[in-house]
Amino acid sequence: MDLRTRYLGLELKHPLIASAGPLSRTLDGIRRLEDGNAAAIVLFSLFEEQIRQEQAVVEQLTAEGTESFPEALSYFPALAEYAVGSDAYLNLIRSAAEAVSVPIIGSLNGVTNAGWIDYARAIEEAGAAALELNVFHIPTDLETTGAEVEQRYLDVLAAVKLAVRIPVAIKLNPYFSAFGSMAKRLALAGADGLVLFNRFYQPDIALDSLTVAPTLELSRANEIRLPLLWLALLHGRLDVSLAATSGVEHASEVIKYLLAGADVVMTTSALLRAGPQHMADLLRGLVRWLAERGHPSVAAIRGTMSQAHVANPAAFERANYIRILQSV
Ligand SMILES: Cc1cc2nc3c(=O)[nH]c(=O)nc-3n(C[C@H](O)[C@H](O)[C@H](O)COP(=O)(O)O)c2cc1C
Repeated sequence: MDLRTRYLGLELKHPLIASAGPLSRTLDGIRRLEDGNAAAIVLFSLFEEQIRQEQAVVEQLTAEGTESFPEALSYFPALAEYAVGSDAYLNLIRSAAEAVSVPIIGSLNGVTNAGWIDYARAIEEAGAAALELNVFHIPTDLETTGAEVEQRYLDVLAAVKLAVRIPVAIKLNPYFSAFGSMAKRLALAGADGLVLFNRFYQPDIALDSLTVAPTLELSRANEIRLPLLWLALLHGRLDVSLAATSGVEHASEVIKYLLAGADVVMTTSALLRAGPQHMADLLRGLVRWLAERGHPSVAAIRGTMSQAHVANPAAFERANYIRILQSV
């Protein structure tokens, strides 16, 4: 069975990737993901706030130092020369790139352009095969317009693309008023891949303590539908790799994502629930399904259920919505 897959220009042995999450926080965890048979591993994100917090600590320490020893000012190199915050992350990329044979994809969650550029470069230099940008921005201020939010994504991507040579994917949320147009603009701005979709971790209210409670529930299979829809709509229409993320529990979600047109399928929740070796179960299920139907490769099914290829393209559109409502 030929499972080979191309993603962001990388040759992968199959289409299953470990998405950014806690399992890649240590070298041991990364090794276990490789042993579980991940074809590539996206590391957990390096968050700009995390780096800035640590920079602030260094600034404070160095300021204290310079106050107590004014003559020692010259001891302190410019802050940029400290590899603060990102040190552990970059070291992990370096050791992972040596320790495992599958591509390591760095992940960066930034806010300011400077943060994105500096750390994108550092991640490339540390040996990442590619970079995933995780733009998690909620415009809460009531003044920022949709156009400004979209521009921020495009600016971040353009800045990072100028700074690095490795392929760059961008992980997106679905909350754009015209997601297709946004995807196209990102592709034209040089994105090598789109990762659909980031899950938003929406806070809840704890009624007993009357506090705003952070929530994190692992995903379930019914969450594949929104990414599935957009993958099916975008497949074959943009010059970018498409990655599916959200809701993979069993091989059936993997197969559906591939049929819709995903180049690769990512998973985190299922691996947190069942352990990294669950990746091998997903792969076995995919191989069995392909073999039972006589498909020689993953490529043979990819996108065959995309909007461009299905017998009834309107099934992905408004006409289907009306039919569903009428059928209830
Ligand atoms: C505990 C946890 C930590 C995560 N950390 C990150 C992260 O650091 N960066 C990121 O881009 N996504 C992160 N994610 C999101 C996952 O990469 C993934 O996109 C999301 O969970 C949907 O996929 P799933 O349904 O397979 O879990 C995290 C998810 C979980 C559950």
